This record gives sequence, structure tokens and C-alpha cells, in this order.
Amino acid sequence: MQMPIVPSPRGVVKPKIFSTEEIEDEAKRLFEAIGQSSRWNMKICRSISPLTLEINELKAKKDVFLIAHSYQTPDIVYGVADSVSDSYTLSKAARDAPQKTILFSSVRFMAETAKIVSPHKTILHPSPDAGCSLSDGITSEDVVDLKKKYPGVPVACYINTTAAVKAECDVCVTSSNYLRICERLPGDKLIFVPDRFMGKHVQKHLEGKKEVIIFDGECEVHAEFTGEKVISWRNKMGSIGIDLQVLAHPECDVGVLEESDFVGSSELLMEEAMRLASVGSRDIMLITECGTAERVLAESEYEINLLGACVMCRHMKRTHLEDILQALREPRPEQIIEIDEMIIQDASKSLDEMFRLAE
Ligand code: 13P
Ligand code: SF4
Repeated sequence: MQMPIVPSPRGVVKPKIFSTEEIEDEAKRLFEAIGQSSRWNMKICRSISPLTLEINELKAKKDVFLIAHSYQTPDIVYGVADSVSDSYTLSKAARDAPQKTILFSSVRFMAETAKIVSPHKTILHPSPDAGCSLSDGITSEDVVDLKKKYPGVPVACYINTTAAVKAECDVCVTSSNYLRICERLPGDKLIFVPDRFMGKHVQKHLEGKKEVIIFDGECEVHAEFTGEKVISWRNKMGSIGIDLQVLAHPECDVGVLEESDFVGSSELLMEEAMRLASVGSRDIMLITECGTAERVLAESEYEINLLGACVMCRHMKRTHLEDILQALREPRPEQIIEIDEMIIQDASKSLDEMFRLAE
């Protein structure tokens, strides 16, 4: 599988000076935890060690819980994060963490979600301009217009939305529970925003039971994959005797999902890839962002032959260790999540409803 290049320090934020022994020990820890010796070699690990050492020192000193989404780079995931997972699990981790300060290494909507579920905590977001094509593609006015057009119809919104959009919806969903929750909504119609691919998947799943009104958003990363490409990979591999297992994220087109053996969130895809490897099925194609493949390579006990090419999310990869260090030392105002109290109140209803229906 073709993987993205390793992000090296930009030299914008200077870490503290550590001893040669401290750097060597930390580099060894990183090298082993990341587990990709050719790309994340000892030289690279040494160069990032001062950053991870100071970040971990500051986290302990300031009692900060550091959450990172699976799509963050391995230096963040294995170097400094306390919790790494998909958006559903991470919103619960933010809600349940006893620490008063959370640093969320990911895109803006995830840090906003952490603030909604734990409004009394300080939520730090190191990269305020890390957006998402789904959350940036819909406004609260769009939802208000849909509600006017279809009065009384429940609105389900994917978690990849701003707090203001969540405040206008009845329930939030994530990639690990969207089918289950939509199935459980009352009535024979529902509005699904903003992901048109996921909306179509819901529509197909509920065919004959519910009509689904779909908004027109898409994830710029998962929109890159097509069913034709999957078929062509399967055929290519089949011709040399390889029985390819295809695992896809539900932000992909229905054509991709229909050609896949398994559909699930970033965390579920990783778990399934590792389960398949443990039963001897080691030729796997992950149709999703590259971070999931990086986690599989680092965490699988078994050798896995990852085939195909992943796509990298430029928004998710905006955060570097240096941004985290700077935000921990002294956050700029825009790195502290602030949301209007009324919006928090309304948006938390849609997230509470998600927790209720998902469990
Ligand atoms: P997950 O909840 O599956 O981690 O998805 C979040 C996301 O943005 C995927 O592109
Ligand atoms: Fe948004 Fe897609 Fe990036 Fe996820 S991968 S953050 S949905 S643009």
C-alpha cells in the first residue's frame, strides 16, 4: 500500500533541551510503538523525541488528557495520545475523562463535539483551521430550510457537522451507529445531513420502510474511491490467486460499499483487519483514509499484506507535534473552543439522543 510521507518537525516551535540519553530512550520507545522501521526509522524518531518528551511532561504537569483521532499521524497517535479511536468513542472519552482540560488533536468539529459533551472543561484545539469538507459544506440555515420544507420529519445529522448544525438536528449519528439509529427514528420519513453517500446507504438499508431525504455533502477523501476501482483490484488480485478482503468506510459511495466485505468506522475497520489477519486472511484492502492503515501496521500482531492505495485527509494531517506543544504551553484564543451556551444546550440534546439510541 502506498503511504504518505513522514511529517518531520517544521522548526517553528523549539522544544526544550533534553539529554542524549533521554532522547535515545524516547526514540527507542517511539520506534517500537510506531512499528514501521523503514519510514519511521531511528533518525526520524530521534528528531521528534524532544517534542514528544516535552509534550508528555506538560500533559502531566497541567493534567491534560490528550485525545487523537485515528487519522492523526503515528508520532501523535503513539507518541503523545492518551486515547485514540473513532469519533463515537472519542466523544465518549472526552465526556468521561476526569481531567478538566482536554487537548483534541483532530479536525475542528471533533473538538467542538468534545466541548458540547463536556461544557465545563477547557477544550484545546491546536489547529483551528483544520476543517472537514462535510462539516464545512452545510450551515444551520440549510437545516432550518429543510425542516420548513418537511415539517415534523426527524433530522439525523452525521457527527461531522458544526455545533450550530447539530443544534438544529434531532439526533447525531456516527459511522459506527448510523444505520441502527436511523432505523430507530419514529415515522416513515427522515432527513439525513450532510453526507449524501451515507444518506444513500441509509436509504438502501431502509428501502420499503422509510423515505430518506438526503443533503448533498460529501467527504473529499472517501469520494475518491469508486466501485469500479474495487472491482478492478479484486479481479487483478484474483487472477494471481489472491482472495482480497475489502474493508470500506461508510463515507464511500454505495457502489464501493456493495463491493466490500465489511463496512465500518475507522476503529471497526482496524479491528476487522486485525481479526482477519489473526485467522489467516492477510490480503486486505482498506478503502479509507491512510491513518487506519498506519494503525493496522503498528498494532497487528500478525503480518498483513495491505493492498491498494489509501487517500490522505489534508485537514486531519494539519496538526503537527509542534502545534500540540505550542497549544499546551500557551494556547492562542482561537485554540480554546468557545461555543454559545444556547447552541451547546441544543446541540447536546442531539448528542444525548445519539448516546441513548446507540447503546
Ligand atoms: P470515524 O468516526 O469512523 O472515525 O470517522 C470520522 C471521519 O471523519 C472519517 O472520515
Ligand atoms: Fe472530513 Fe473526510 Fe477528512 Fe474525515 S476524512 S475529516 S470526513 S474530509
